Amino acid sequence: MTVLVTGGAGYIGSHMALELTDAGERVVVLDNLTTGFRWAVPPKATLVVGDVADEKLVGEIIADHGIKAIIHFAGSIVVPDSVTDPLGYYHNNTVKSRALMAAAVAGGVPHFIFSSTAAVYGNPGEEPVREDAILKPMSPYGTSKLMTELMLADTAAAHDFSYVALRYFNVAGADPQGRSGQSTPRATHLIKVACEAATGKRAGMQVFGTDYPTVDGTCVRDYIHVSDLARAHLAALKYLRAGNKSDVFNCGYSRGYSVQQVIDAVKTATGRDFKVDLSERRAGDPAAIVAATDKIRETLGWQPKHDDINNIVAQAFAWEEHLAQFKKCG
Ligand code: UFG
Repeated sequence: MTVLVTGGAGYIGSHMALELTDAGERVVVLDNLTTGFRWAVPPKATLVVGDVADEKLVGEIIADHGIKAIIHFAGSIVVPDSVTDPLGYYHNNTVKSRALMAAAVAGGVPHFIFSSTAAVYGNPGEEPVREDAILKPMSPYGTSKLMTELMLADTAAAHDFSYVALRYFNVAGADPQGRSGQSTPRATHLIKVACEAATGKRAGMQVFGTDYPTVDGTCVRDYIHVSDLARAHLAALKYLRAGNKSDVFNCGYSRGYSVQQVIDAVKTATGRDFKVDLSERRAGDPAAIVAATDKIRETLGWQPKHDDINNIVAQAFAWEEHLAQFKKCG
């Protein structure tokens, strides 16, 4: 039984491929390498360079490797970009996911795990937010993922096909063994940006908004370690293989940290000071979003192992230093 991981050369996908190969699973990665890296694919996994919407190629992979589950990460992930290029996001995230699902159904793949997002909730106004909250995305990114969730539900109702959609909160950190981490150039995510400032790669950073109704006026998020997130997918795979019904789960720790608290944690963990400018709100940011996680804990039996913001930022920083070294050598 081989697992197909789309986007397995990217940040979260490469951690998934590591988690699967560490667990002794056979893995094929399908990635078009537009944002992923060949080196990020674990040596034990097979890399196919191609597009998830290439139904012929996916059909061949399914048949040649005996694929029995697909974990689908490939997609576009920058919320503000989705606002300026909505059709690009609907194409890449929604239309291409439809093609991948069609190939899965045609090839008789019974199980599918999908990277969804907390962005499907928009500004929930309830904290922590439960899976049955009203879904009101604030960006085309969130809508593109919600549309895929809806397609999955309809597909599962019509075919011999079950799925789990995992709604990620803010993913951060790096492989504790230092084998992978967030490597995207032009990063926009808070912890990565703060770690780049700590290494000196950038001169400083900005805090977007200080007048939110939160503990210190800055936005609150629920940061989950990327390896715990990958382990949530393993738990979902086990759940589907056991014949359980399709479902949706939040992935977070049920604990929020403000932007200011995260920056302080980066400064403390690294022992480096850097310039922080307080600036205007960034468009589209909800004030606070924290996951209710009783469902994933109870139903999938998932328990976090890296639930420590200081460790998360320390590992993100270690990876940032590794990248800086890599660049010097390259
Ligand atoms: N922030 C700053 N300065 C920066 C970068 C970010 O103040 O340089 C702030 C943002 O304004 C926000 C918080 O830090 O308040 C977190 O921002 P990120 O860009 O790190 O992450 P988002 O919360 O915007 O988005 C992330 C994922 C999405 C997902 C969403 C769900 O990137 O894919 O979480 O909550 F949908």
